[in-house]
Amino acid sequence: MTHSHISFLLQTQLLLVLLIVIKVAAKVPAVIVFGDSSVDAGNNNQIPTIARSNFQPYGRDFSGGKPTGRFSNGRIPTDFISTAFGLKPTVPAYLDPSYNISDFATGVTFASAGTGYDTATSDVLSVIPLWKQLDYYKEYQNKLRAYRGGNEADETIKEALHMTSLGTNDFLENYYTSFPPSSRSSQYTISQYQDFLIGIAGNFVKELYKLGARKISLGGLPPMGCLPLERTSNVMGGNDCISRYNDVALEFNNKLKSLTVSLNKELPGSKLVFSNPYYIFLHMIRRPSSYGFQVTAVACCATGMFEMGYACNRNNLFTCTDASKYIFWDSFHPTEKANHIVSDYLVKSALAQFL
Ligand SMILES: *[C@@H]1O[C@H](CO)[C@@H](O)[C@H](O)[C@H]1NC(C)=O
Repeated sequence: MTHSHISFLLQTQLLLVLLIVIKVAAKVPAVIVFGDSSVDAGNNNQIPTIARSNFQPYGRDFSGGKPTGRFSNGRIPTDFISTAFGLKPTVPAYLDPSYNISDFATGVTFASAGTGYDTATSDVLSVIPLWKQLDYYKEYQNKLRAYRGGNEADETIKEALHMTSLGTNDFLENYYTSFPPSSRSSQYTISQYQDFLIGIAGNFVKELYKLGARKISLGGLPPMGCLPLERTSNVMGGNDCISRYNDVALEFNNKLKSLTVSLNKELPGSKLVFSNPYYIFLHMIRRPSSYGFQVTAVACCATGMFEMGYACNRNNLFTCTDASKYIFWDSFHPTEKANHIVSDYLVKSALAQFL
């Protein structure tokens, strides 16, 4: 073969590789996130609330040991999911002044720790309600149009993976609180309250759809009765998981799953999936050694029983040295390792169709 033949072949192959890369890269050009502390990367640092984690030892195992406002020792699920889609290794917070639209164009989170579907939940800790996250998203779309041009921005929005992760606070920080008693628990039975939240979730999806989103993942609840904070309070039950809360999570997840089925029919061209972290979480808690965990009932930070936010701080001498042996980092939030395992599972079980 002559040189020109070889070079022609190489060029063709290169072109083919490039085309494949472009096709893969373009499939999900951005990850756009709404939710609570499970997916907040620092939005709460910019608002007046006590629901924060931008101090050590949070972020201890994050790049540069930086406490960004993620409620973990390292990365959170949406960071791992972004990576799985070939996008950047972390999804930045929309309100973080160190980022701008050139960063947000491939991924952004509007999430706010402490929030819920219910505005009464976000009021408890004065955090960003879901409707306000949607307002920020509209503003983001305008910035994206100015940055990329209308057509390309519309295409990005259409192909981007939109994800939600919230709901735990509606139950644990609102409905079931007794000091002061939540007005929601006198207004609604637990089943009615679930339906109320599902109604909000449905309207939220319809708003996203109107704004051009087509690929949407609705995140289910973890077995929230197994969070160390809840187990600590379950003295009568030998500090095991509170089964009533786990049952509520299962019921809510079933309703959320049905919602995705009905909205897929109702909204032409939409691709909604239900991302269910419940069983993988429970499996980690019941079979910790199969994942290399040693501690499930208490968290790494401080005494591991009550601490989250300001109660988990660098002055606490009891914080564990190796977070990878723990499922929970603080009494409400998983370690980076647990986040990684759950994320890989969600990518395989629910999000793979978008890959
Ligand atoms: C975003 O920030 C980077 C670095 O700080 C800067 O170079 C770039 O011009 C900014 N882009 C826009 C669109 O503001």
